[in-house]
Amino acid sequence: MDFSDVVSARRMVRNYSDEPVSGDAVERIVDAAVRAPSAGFSQGQRFVVVTDPERRRAVAKAGGEEHYVADGFDPWISAAPVHIVVCVDKHAYLRRYSEPDKTGGEDRQSLEEDWVVPFWWVDAGASMMAILYAAVNEGLAAGFLGLQAFDDLHAVLDIPTEVSIVGVCTIGHPKPDRRSGSLKRGWNDRPEVVKWERWT
Ligand SMILES: Cc1cc2nc3c(=O)[nH]c(=O)nc-3n(C[C@H](O)[C@H](O)[C@H](O)COP(=O)(O)O)c2cc1C
Repeated sequence: MDFSDVVSARRMVRNYSDEPVSGDAVERIVDAAVRAPSAGFSQGQRFVVVTDPERRRAVAKAGGEEHYVADGFDPWISAAPVHIVVCVDKHAYLRRYSEPDKTGGEDRQSLEEDWVVPFWWVDAGASMMAILYAAVNEGLAAGFLGLQAFDDLHAVLDIPTEVSIVGVCTIGHPKPDRRSGSLKRGWNDRPEVVKWERWT
């Protein structure tokens, strides 16, 4: 697909058919996630690909699917044939930014509290975006479920506690879905969002 078509077609989809997704397509989507940039090439992003139906149901339960259904949405988490759980290991960044080329040769440990912008979240977002676009490029649809909703997903997927879960990309063939109420907010005026040359 042309990149501009991918960008304009992408939206968060919250309903999927039971048509399976090919393993090759999943591999290409995962490649896109891994290919995303990372600060200092720390490569702290981690992904758990879930396709087993029972495990997807457990992810959906942990992600609060019942609340979506109670709000009139489809059971979009368990219905998605593929989940890519986006995780990040901040310790990869703290180690990498303690290396001499990042400390200017000083023997200094990078500490989490010193980070003005914790790049691990940035990199997880970059991978998340790569997954969403790659899914659309495969003729599929994707939706993102943010972490706040989760209860105990570490335990469900045996993810080590030191690895942070950022959210779940649901992927599949789209079915007509209920759009998010957030979209009623409409777009911010472009001049409010995009400044040219300087802020004012
Ligand atoms: C960081 C992030 C977290 C999100 N978390 C959720 C979520 O937990 N549940 C959900 O239904 N949508 C979630 N969304 C989707 C947004 O609601 C959606 O992107 C926004 O309404 C714009 O719609 P669009 O992506 O279809 O253009 C999230 C999006 C982002 C970027």
